Amino acid sequence: MTVRPLVAGNWKMNGALESFEEFSKIAAGYDAALAEKIDMLVCPPAVLLAKFAEVKNIAVGAQNCHSAVSGAFTGDISAEMVADAGGTYVLVGHSERREGYGETDADVAAKAEAAWRAGIIAVVCIGESLEQREAGETIAVVTEQVTKSLPDASNSENTVVAYEPIWAIGTGKTPTADDVAEVHAALRKSLEERFGEDGSKIRLLYGGSVKPSNAAELLALPNVNGALVGGASLKAADFLGIAEVYKNF
Ligand code: PGA
Repeated sequence: MTVRPLVAGNWKMNGALESFEEFSKIAAGYDAALAEKIDMLVCPPAVLLAKFAEVKNIAVGAQNCHSAVSGAFTGDISAEMVADAGGTYVLVGHSERREGYGETDADVAAKAEAAWRAGIIAVVCIGESLEQREAGETIAVVTEQVTKSLPDASNSENTVVAYEPIWAIGTGKTPTADDVAEVHAALRKSLEERFGEDGSKIRLLYGGSVKPSNAAELLALPNVNGALVGGASLKAADFLGIAEVYKNF
């Protein structure tokens, strides 16, 4: 089964209008050789989305959305607004949203459904804490999260899953290749059991301290269909260095 990989950047609360220049370098680096092999996505802060979407050769998306279409939700944006601004993806359930804003699996599932309602792709993020890993609960935790955070209508066209161990985000630490492979195998099995053949095509990204120096090892693992990159996606050279690993595959 060949699954077209996705290399996605999560800029978090970083960047400004002047970052359009760095973003343009990323887009320019997504050349024909890369486009033949992978999809690329950048999720900047929402206020930059419409500007970045002027560049058509790579995808842009939001980092979060509300589950409602519109209404009295001060400070929130809807999936429809993301789509209107030119976004084609939205991250839902990033651990910084789950931990900092109390988002539950049910909230994340509702946001994924909102993304589909707006015609965009949901990147559903899951991952265990250090405490859970040390207690040997990783597989149980991420399996439960993927089950509860993915609505029944999830498929390989409308949904991407990103496995991001919380303790590996922004810390420079990554799980061993064996640990990543073990989690991704368990997630794949769970997706296949639930969604049948299509479950083998849902893209499974790894995220957490991915950088050019470790990308080749991580992206070559079975059932790893790309990366969700935080810090290293802010610099075109680093982000492209990660994506270009696929030129050698
Ligand atoms: P990081 O962040 O690459 O800076 O560890 C990943 C993420 O939070 O998506």
